[in-house]
Amino acid sequence: MGYLLIVMILCFLTSTEGYKFYVGGKDGWVVNPSENYNHWAQRMRFQVNDTLFFKYKKGSDSVLLVTKEDYFACNTRNPIQSLTEGDSIFTFDRSGPFFFITGNADNCNKGQKLIVVVMAVRHKPPQQQQSPSPSSAVPVPTASPVSPPTSPVPRLAIRQSRRRAVRLHRSRNRARWE
Ligand SMILES: *[C@@H]1O[C@H](CO)[C@@H](O)[C@H](O)[C@H]1NC(C)=O
Repeated sequence: MGYLLIVMILCFLTSTEGYKFYVGGKDGWVVNPSENYNHWAQRMRFQVNDTLFFKYKKGSDSVLLVTKEDYFACNTRNPIQSLTEGDSIFTFDRSGPFFFITGNADNCNKGQKLIVVVMAVRHKPPQQQQSPSPSSAVPVPTASPVSPPTSPVPRLAIRQSRRRAVRLHRSRNRARWE
């Protein structure tokens, strides 16, 4: 039961605070990262409230959030948002695609650009009929705490949250070693 509670808290924290992704890993935001930015991004799972960390020195580079058209054209003149202060952090406030390019058009043409697709916000599965409790985040059966978990419902819930925790660990480890 303690394990389940820890898993629940973990899920809650990660879903509201988000996870920080280091663009380019140790290389940071550069013209020739050791792994192409879009190859990297395709292996990651980005969610709303996750953040991107772009490592670069103020004055030597910048990060522009642009439209799809400006991304492919490397047009730096019409950014939706520009991050110029060095070591920029960008938070995903919605799901869907985000297009980033460097403020240096030449370097953009050499490939210093990044597309991130943020996954749709997952809806919680509908609660079982018995438990319209206000704390819907904790699907622990309150009616009979002493009985062994013979009913399939709580076991399924536990399996699901374990799977989710494992997934979270995997994506965290991947991000950490990138
Ligand atoms: C993102 O963060 C905001 C503010 O902390 C929160 O209200 C919202 O529920 C979060 N969204 C997700 C999908 O975690």
